[in-house]
Amino acid sequence: MNSKQPINCLSSSSHIHYHFYVLVIFLTFTAISAGNETDYQALLKIKSMITQDPYRALTSWNNSLHFCDWTGVTCGRWHKRVTYIVLESRGLEGSLSPHVGNLSFLRKLSLSNNSFQGVIPDELGRLYRLRLLTLEENKFTGVIPANISGCSNLEELNLSKNKLVGSISKAIGFLSKLRVVSLQDNKLTGGIPPFLGNITSMEVFSISRNPLGESIPDTIGHWKVLKEFHSDGCNLYGTIPHSLYNLSLLTRFSSYENQLIGSLPSAIGAMLPHLVNLQLWGNQLTGPFPSSITNCSRLTYLEMDQNKFSGKLKIDFAKLKDISYITLGHNDFGSEEADEMKFIDSLMNCTKLNTLDLQNSKFQGVLPRSIGNLSNQLNHLSLEENQLHGTLPRSIGNLVGLTKLSLGTNKFIGSIPSTIGNLQKLQGNIPTSLSSCTSLSSLSLKGNLFQGMIPSSLSSLKGLRTLDISHNNLSGQIPQFLVQLSLEYLNLSYNDFEGEVSTLGVFANASTISVLGNNRLCGGIVELGLPNCKERTKHKKDVPMFIIVILIASTLCTIICLAYACCKKKNKSKSSQSSTIKRFMKVSYNQLLKATDGFSESQLIGIGGFSSVYKGILDEYKDRFVAIKVLHLQNQGAQTSFMRECEAWRNIRHRNLLKIITSCSSVDFQGNDFKALVYEFMPNGSLHDWLHSSERTSRLNLLQITNILVDVASALDYIHNHCIPTIIHGDLKPSNILLDDDMVAHVGDFGLTRFLGTSSYQNSSTGIKGTIGYVPPEYGLGSEMTSSGDVYSFGILLLEVMTRKRPTDDIFNDGLSLHKFSSMALLDHVIDVIDVNILNVYQEDENFMQNTEANSKKINECLASIVNIGVSCSVDSPSQRMDIKKVVQELHHILDALQSI
Ligand SMILES: *[C@@H]1O[C@H](CO)[C@@H](O)[C@H](O)[C@H]1NC(C)=O
Ligand SMILES: *[C@@H]1O[C@H](CO)[C@@H](O)[C@H](O)[C@H]1NC(C)=O
Ligand SMILES: *[C@@H]1O[C@H](CO)[C@@H](O)[C@H](O)[C@H]1NC(C)=O
Ligand SMILES: *[C@@H]1O[C@H](CO)[C@@H](O)[C@H](O)[C@H]1NC(C)=O
Ligand SMILES: *[C@@H]1O[C@H](CO)[C@@H](O)[C@H](O)[C@H]1NC(C)=O
Ligand SMILES: *[C@@H]1O[C@H](CO)[C@@H](O)[C@H](O)[C@H]1NC(C)=O
Ligand SMILES: *[C@@H]1O[C@H](CO)[C@@H](O)[C@H](O)[C@H]1NC(C)=O
Ligand SMILES: *[C@@H]1O[C@H](CO)[C@@H](O)[C@H](O)[C@H]1NC(C)=O
Repeated sequence: MNSKQPINCLSSSSHIHYHFYVLVIFLTFTAISAGNETDYQALLKIKSMITQDPYRALTSWNNSLHFCDWTGVTCGRWHKRVTYIVLESRGLEGSLSPHVGNLSFLRKLSLSNNSFQGVIPDELGRLYRLRLLTLEENKFTGVIPANISGCSNLEELNLSKNKLVGSISKAIGFLSKLRVVSLQDNKLTGGIPPFLGNITSMEVFSISRNPLGESIPDTIGHWKVLKEFHSDGCNLYGTIPHSLYNLSLLTRFSSYENQLIGSLPSAIGAMLPHLVNLQLWGNQLTGPFPSSITNCSRLTYLEMDQNKFSGKLKIDFAKLKDISYITLGHNDFGSEEADEMKFIDSLMNCTKLNTLDLQNSKFQGVLPRSIGNLSNQLNHLSLEENQLHGTLPRSIGNLVGLTKLSLGTNKFIGSIPSTIGNLQKLQGNIPTSLSSCTSLSSLSLKGNLFQGMIPSSLSSLKGLRTLDISHNNLSGQIPQFLVQLSLEYLNLSYNDFEGEVSTLGVFANASTISVLGNNRLCGGIVELGLPNCKERTKHKKDVPMFIIVILIASTLCTIICLAYACCKKKNKSKSSQSSTIKRFMKVSYNQLLKATDGFSESQLIGIGGFSSVYKGILDEYKDRFVAIKVLHLQNQGAQTSFMRECEAWRNIRHRNLLKIITSCSSVDFQGNDFKALVYEFMPNGSLHDWLHSSERTSRLNLLQITNILVDVASALDYIHNHCIPTIIHGDLKPSNILLDDDMVAHVGDFGLTRFLGTSSYQNSSTGIKGTIGYVPPEYGLGSEMTSSGDVYSFGILLLEVMTRKRPTDDIFNDGLSLHKFSSMALLDHVIDVIDVNILNVYQEDENFMQNTEANSKKINECLASIVNIGVSCSVDSPSQRMDIKKVVQELHHILDALQSI
């Protein structure tokens, strides 16, 4: 009877009134059905731009069904307009049609984990009802569209794992309802902009692994409801703003692998009581580690290794019931107080402890017995490279959960406790397959002062794969049970073992065993070069030591320098285990020989004065190529070059510096010294090849070149201004710039490196300073290597890239140099000296063609600005060369301008 009411009402009103109602209903209906048509057309357009649909997700997008029933499409119940599009992990390829902007009722768009490419369409900005936009894990390029500010109801924006460039658009600052912003794993630059502080609803902010630079802005202190903040690997400098510690709801804070400095507030535990993750490893944080952290009762991940924390570690861990990962290694904690290691006692109640990394942190005390009361969940215990002394507590045998125990390079004395043999999963009913997962697989006790025999209890460590007890004072016969263990590596060198060496098991292969420096051994396989056991008694004195040394050709090498530069530690919270394993990775001459097919010509990818570089595959890095640089030790200077490079890499890491994986220092089969460095392989070769190799059919375009120049300049800025001591590269040139899969440039070859303010490695002895053409004129006059010398080389490199003329080109004589040639062109005809390929590539680009005149004006301006930087960097007078910081800034501006074309 309700419906009667309006009719009664109508009958008492005028007809006009009635017609008005009908009209309204009619128009609404028309609008909806017109909207339906718009949505239908838009969906078809979206489909038409999708080129690959391997799982046939879009088959149902046809006329036989209403579009509201199409796969991945959801409509409003009443108005039948599209409200959700969810097409996740469907293997879709193609681009996202701008027509998506016509779906005006859309509230959720999720296309995560496909292969969409091209730009994110500006038209998305018309979707003012959109609450959730997820384009995660695609191949979108270009910038974050400024129009996104139109999505005023957006709550969640996830563009992570794409190839987005440029700086974070100001437009995002207007999205006042954002709760979740995830932009990690892109190529965004320009820092974390302060205006983001305006988004006070922010709960989760993740920007990790973007080359952002700059420091964390103070304004994030406005994010009062922030729970998670992630900015790992973003080249961030400066201190952590104090305002961050005001965000008392914060549970996860990670900003590892940056260059953050300063200390943590002593009251951090009271200020951020809800912390679950605190991951700031790989920065340059100083000061004491605040003991108030004990008040973060839910703390699970405390990963603070590779910083410069100092002073006595006074954390009471007892209240941290959930703590699983404690990594505090590579710091400066030593206090010289007797009870320095007392904090170990407080770890007894941490029943979930999985990893305790305290290596290389200057700890000097005695290891307390309570070490044996730690959790039986403890998997990794690393105490190596400290100055721990006294005997190794027998209680260590209680840690039955250990798979990795490293105690090497300390000052432990006495015998190896027989309880070590308990470090296996306690038997019996457990199937062998399981027990081999949980028992100790790697044990390092090397470099201590242990005496006596190898305890027979070790025989019970059936899961042991790696055993290193080298450089101790162990004696007696080598026990037979070592043959039965499934060892892959056994190092007994530099002890005082005697008697016969087996030829079986691990002893059967010269590359898995080392017995060097044990004068009283005999037998073994021939390659070990030990005397025959029967003859030995007769000719004992006749076997000169050096022959033994020479014959042991494939001694396993030790990692000499790269205590930590060697391990890529991305996603560490999830894969602490594997990164620790990599940290211990050793590589032998034999392995390198195998990896490079016997250092064969076909694997040779470059050759220089001090070294040859090979491509290879190391077993440890299955299916990943590495580049192996073998030093020409016979050439004077190569040895120094190796040392310098090691030293340089020990302290630095930056996305635009070539990463070293490990190194090898050994003797080859002829008994000659052998040294090599193993780097990440750069599939796109060197900048030199791109410029001059006739095998390259395609050349670089202006955008790529500008990006490369930004990369190189950023690397220089880092080694000059953000490393202590300052590092001078000394040999910057196109063949030392390597390009990865994504054409990101990595500066390599630190062989001529010099450290300012240190007395070691003064550069006068070798007389070699860089490469002709790139060396600044003052070096020729005997000047020391300086950072402005590197700037000069950069300037020359830039001009070479732009003109594709080497500084040593024949046309440069009679007072004409690359610098002069370019600076004269700057006056009015810069385009004349630019490599014609750079322009060609641009002209083939569609966007360029659309608006040729305006664009070519812009491009001309950019070209002139770039050449101007090169000219300003390569002036003769060192003091007048451009500052590298300024170079980075200006190149960024040029890049922004080019990207807006
Ligand atoms: C149209 O969609 C229906 C429903 O998914 C499907 O069964 C049919 O094969 C599709 N037709 C074409 C021509 O793809
Ligand atoms: C749909 O979007 C396209 C591209 O943005 C636009 O050209 C067109 O006019 C729109 N159509 C309708 C019906 O709104
Ligand atoms: C946003 O932040 C910037 C810088 O932090 C500030 O200058 C500006 O006034 C803010 N805008 C609004 C709308 O709050
Ligand atoms: C922290 O918050 C308090 C209260 O809101 C405010 O007075 C103080 O200035 C803030 N401190 C920082 C460093 O932002
Ligand atoms: C932990 O918090 C309590 C209460 O806020 C405080 O009294 C205590 O000093 C804190 N502990 C440390 C070690 O800072
Ligand atoms: C550790 O746990 C034991 C047993 O649960 C308890 O008695 C002791 O008080 C705890 N210690 C600390 C410091 O919390
Ligand atoms: C620590 O372990 C030892 C055995 O090594 C045991 O006797 C002692 O009771 C344990 N202490 C605590 C507090 O659990
Ligand atoms: C090595 O051990 C022997 C006894 O086995 C002992 O005489 C000698 O002093 C020890 N050397 C060192 C450096 O501890």
